[in-house]
Amino acid sequence: MKARKEGTSRRDFFKIGALSTIPLVIPAVAYGASPSSDLQKEKPAPGKAAVNFIYDGPMFSPQDYLEKLNEIDQANPIEIDYYSSGGVTKALEEEFAKITGKEKAIYLPTGTMANQLAIKLLNGNNTKVIVPDNSHVFRDEADAAQSVHKLRLIPLGKNKAYFNLNDVKNAIKYLDENEVFKSGLGTVMIENPIRRADGTIIPLKTIVEITDYCREQGYKLHLDGARIHIASAYSKVSVAEYASHFDTVYVSLYKYLNAGSGAMLCGDADFIDQIPHQIKILGGTMLRNWSNTAMALHYLNGIEQRWQEVVRSGTHIISELNKLEGVTISAVKNGSNVFDLKLAQDIDLQELTDHLYATHKITLGRANEEGLMKFKVNETLLSRDPEEIVHAWLTGIESIRG
Ligand SMILES: Cc1ncc(COP(=O)(O)O)c(C=O)c1O
Repeated sequence: MKARKEGTSRRDFFKIGALSTIPLVIPAVAYGASPSSDLQKEKPAPGKAAVNFIYDGPMFSPQDYLEKLNEIDQANPIEIDYYSSGGVTKALEEEFAKITGKEKAIYLPTGTMANQLAIKLLNGNNTKVIVPDNSHVFRDEADAAQSVHKLRLIPLGKNKAYFNLNDVKNAIKYLDENEVFKSGLGTVMIENPIRRADGTIIPLKTIVEITDYCREQGYKLHLDGARIHIASAYSKVSVAEYASHFDTVYVSLYKYLNAGSGAMLCGDADFIDQIPHQIKILGGTMLRNWSNTAMALHYLNGIEQRWQEVVRSGTHIISELNKLEGVTISAVKNGSNVFDLKLAQDIDLQELTDHLYATHKITLGRANEEGLMKFKVNETLLSRDPEEIVHAWLTGIESIRG
């Protein structure tokens, strides 16, 4: 293989902006088409599973989803639930309580509802909640906290990936000194890993400093751990260790557990027992949830081992691809599974994408105006020998250069 070109600079996170993540992850094969037709196009040829460097995971088509559920059911018949009680939903809740080390877990239809109900109930009669400026709660939940739950969100850490203890102390001091009405701060929440900062993982030390202080001061703590398994795979900090620093933790069932939707909220039994009534008030109580919870339970089993392999294989692939002339894949500071890919001018991304898809069922995302692309490592990698993926790139680049 050719030597890697030296001197390619690492991405300036703040200049380019983590917000650029969303448009960049649209796959070239899918651009402009509806999501469902994109997924149809990505359906692999028989015997060859697709590998994508775009999504959190395989993004099953309806046919793949049905096949998988059928396979799960054949191996161990799926037990029905009734308004989220019993059956496979109960089994998943029990498993989540175990892995997070909390007394109880509960299924909710979405992570948005899990986050909102967690901060609402943790806050009691208080009105203020400290949230990360770049968090899903602050930016992507349609101002539900303000409009539905009458909470005032105090965003911290603008223009950085995450806030630290000093930011928390300064914010509290500022509020105390500058506001006349002292309605209280009740809860501090953190998101980890951080979606809008390309999967940045907050160092455990920072989490411990913030949460220890908040506990001393009597504030409640919520963790948006939608992708906590990924933080854990890269940081080697267990899910239970992360969860132990918070009163409640939410984990998504569809980011890395491949369900169609759904969320788990974990915490003390007294707290979790208040949730069903709240879900009902919001109209979120659904008769059957087994199609989500059976899928999530299936993928929860062995997730740690599979991700150790994803990290190992992904690191190897990236290191080998970086040896190819004209390819630069760089890591985000404190990053997890999202990388920045830059190609030299003489490698046409569209041609490379087409080659990788046509010959190896490998899909890539799109580049932004500066030619930078997000390169996301996920479990689809495990269906291939890493050398095959590297070889596909090598032959693709050679054929483009002629
Ligand atoms: C960090 C984070 N939290 C919460 C959510 C909300 O999840 P849901 O789509 O289930 O409401 C998402 C979804 O994108 C997310 O990325």
